[in-house]
Amino acid sequence: MQDKKIAIFASGRGSNAVNIIQHFKSHETIHVALLISNRTDAFVVQAAEELGVKTMVLTNETAADASILIQICQENAIDAVILAGYLRKIPVGFIQAFTDKIINIHPSLLPKYGGQGMYGDKVHEAVLQNKELETGITIHFVNEHFDEGRIIAQFHCSISQNDHLADIQSKIHHLEQAYFPFVIEQTLKSSF
Ligand code: GRF
Repeated sequence: MQDKKIAIFASGRGSNAVNIIQHFKSHETIHVALLISNRTDAFVVQAAEELGVKTMVLTNETAADASILIQICQENAIDAVILAGYLRKIPVGFIQAFTDKIINIHPSLLPKYGGQGMYGDKVHEAVLQNKELETGITIHFVNEHFDEGRIIAQFHCSISQNDHLADIQSKIHHLEQAYFPFVIEQTLKSSF
């Protein structure tokens, strides 16, 4: 396989971004070339720098500008974009330029608990509220509609009657840590 370069987009604490960076650290063909954030104070920016990954912080204006994002990716020879807790909307022009090359992780079993405004604890709270017996993570391609792109993989976990928010957070975190980098690797190997 030819070398592939990944750009990770992230806005928060970055546990997924760090896990992905570490997974591909000494990979033969897949490299994390860039971490993009929309927040200077995001923990993920510092963490990526410490791991030797080039970082870039976008203003809200830049984050919404498809042509600038395309240019940044071209300049850095990016083949695939990974959204790992990135909380800005991806401009449509960028999604079209990177069709089937942008992968997102969502902390529920889509199509359940997806869509605009459904992120982080809001998802888990809704899952608890509805007394679901299971939840999980969905790894999917990104299209123009929030959380509706083609599903690549889903992983489930059960919910017990005594589970609180922290329990769900922890179960989801474990699934993300265990599977996200491997699914990215398989996807890049098979369909890029
Ligand atoms: C994760 O739960 C992910 O599923 C969601 O946002 C969260 C990001 O967490 N999209 P982190 O910043 O990677 O720790």
